Amino acid sequence: MYRTKTCGELRLSNANETVTLAGWVQIVRDMGHLIFIDLRDRYGMTQLSLNADSDAALYNMARSLGREYVIQVTGKVIERTSKNSEMATGDIEIFVENLTILNEAETPPFTIENKSDGGEELRMKYRYLDIRRPHLKDVLVTRATMIRAMREYLDSKNFIEVETPNLIKSTPEGARDFLVPSRMQNGSFYALPQSPQILKQLLMVAGMDRYYQVVKCYRDEDFRGDRQPEFTQLDCEMSFVNQEDVFENFEGMVKHVFKKTNGVELPDFIRLTFADAVKYYGSDKPDLRFDCKIVELNDSLPKSEFPVFNNAIAAGNLVAAINAKGCAAYSRKQLDELTEFVKASHRGLSGLVNIKFNEDGTVKSSVDKFYNEEQLKEIGKALGAEKGDLILIAAEKASKVRKSLGDLRLELAKRESWIKPGTWSVFWVVDFPLFEKDEETGETNFVHHPFCSPHPDDLQYFDSDPLRVRAQTYDMVMNGNEILSGSIRIHQRELQNRVFNKLGFSQEDIDHKFGFMLNAFRYGAPPHGGCAFGIDRWVMLMTGGETIRDSMAFPKASNGRDLMMDAPALVDPKQLTELGIAVVNKD
Ligand code: AMO
Repeated sequence: MYRTKTCGELRLSNANETVTLAGWVQIVRDMGHLIFIDLRDRYGMTQLSLNADSDAALYNMARSLGREYVIQVTGKVIERTSKNSEMATGDIEIFVENLTILNEAETPPFTIENKSDGGEELRMKYRYLDIRRPHLKDVLVTRATMIRAMREYLDSKNFIEVETPNLIKSTPEGARDFLVPSRMQNGSFYALPQSPQILKQLLMVAGMDRYYQVVKCYRDEDFRGDRQPEFTQLDCEMSFVNQEDVFENFEGMVKHVFKKTNGVELPDFIRLTFADAVKYYGSDKPDLRFDCKIVELNDSLPKSEFPVFNNAIAAGNLVAAINAKGCAAYSRKQLDELTEFVKASHRGLSGLVNIKFNEDGTVKSSVDKFYNEEQLKEIGKALGAEKGDLILIAAEKASKVRKSLGDLRLELAKRESWIKPGTWSVFWVVDFPLFEKDEETGETNFVHHPFCSPHPDDLQYFDSDPLRVRAQTYDMVMNGNEILSGSIRIHQRELQNRVFNKLGFSQEDIDHKFGFMLNAFRYGAPPHGGCAFGIDRWVMLMTGGETIRDSMAFPKASNGRDLMMDAPALVDPKQLTELGIAVVNKD
């Protein structure tokens, strides 16, 4: 037996026991006549002590230990003279009687501590060392706890876990596929699943009734902090359910996972329509941990000659504002920064109008020339402005105003620390549209995926006004992040065909891509619906990570590379020949 105890479990009650521990040397502190060693394993850290007088050979061996050496020690648990209340094992230490070096280690390229001196790239290259750091290790432990709680809950509700294949035909989730060439059928390719969407629907046709899977999904899309090309979903599907059944079940599961993981009791989730989310918060995944709603002013602006607002209204654009509570004292520089923020090309505003409701009762605005104090106060009233508040107004195309003010409220929350640490906002967004129009190409696209069922009340507009049709689609939003998407599915072949047609698929395309699915629908497809959670995002939020890289064991860097394995990599030309593939240089 390598060890009788772990490095995280010994307490004062273990005093006088003789124990054996194994782990990594965190640090050796040589005090001249005394040596202290911090020994680390997954469970924690324990202090070891050696005394030069008691055993000189042992003492010298301890002095030779380097950082990250793997050792085994046997000794007696003794009460520490100077206790460390920051350490779970801080009341005791092990007085070492026996020491074995199990393996030496080269000096690691960065310090294995929460505050490491290694940059992110270096830490990703040596990810196995990075995971030794307590924070990342704790994240992986939390991740496992969360997944265990998910399984526990779903198992108790009669769900069964079914694995689905990774080498499949393309599934349309709106991203590019990763392709895998076939050796046996040169020129043909498998696609890695963007999600098991079609397969889980086929499992419903197969009568599995309640399915889930913790599953890898693959999407060749551009990187963002909340996206990875390879990520994990908790994928679920249920038969004979409506939207309410899905909500009840998965709201219950989220509450269960919170209770089991961080002890938080979440209140019941509110439901926000997609239209309201965009109107009031400028986003379909708003952060509701703070208020600061967008207020539309088109109908309530006092009369004035201010051309920017007048022209915007005449052009059918939107004039809207937010109340930056307590920000009236912002300096010129701070206001300029906010203006630059909304002028960024992806937001596209040309400027911001401000009204300051100063603490001394005066009201000052960047459009003083056009509005008198009474009129400014009237605008302020629509936003509940009080002394100390700053009103920021934008006028542009509605989509730009909403996006900009939505981003601005997040930016202000960050600058002003409006979000109290440890607060949670989890809710449903409902009534998404079924289709959207691509602003560039004018094409009709699906909003979620092509298998979402239209809202029965809106089917009447399917041909006459398709953009008006709501889908039975929903998202779950957690602290401003979309962590779940799902829908009630189409289970009738004819309706599915109509949707494909509306999306511009030719019959040939439909047969080629989805023939097998439509065929399955001939044989008694039950009404069904489901959802998928982005596990990495959820873990990131539960563990305070900044990107989803922080919630995975072996993530890819932002350019898609695995820096540790150095992938993707060139392959032996023989392999390419077998696959019938010739590489042409794109440039
Ligand atoms: P969707 O594409 O919305 O739905 O994905 C579900 C959830 O997965 C997470 N997610 C991602 N996480 C990390 N990196 C990515 N690249 C990434 N893409 C998505 C998000 C998202 O909410 N088949 C449908 C689900 C369904 O309808 O049942 C689907 O995959 O948290």
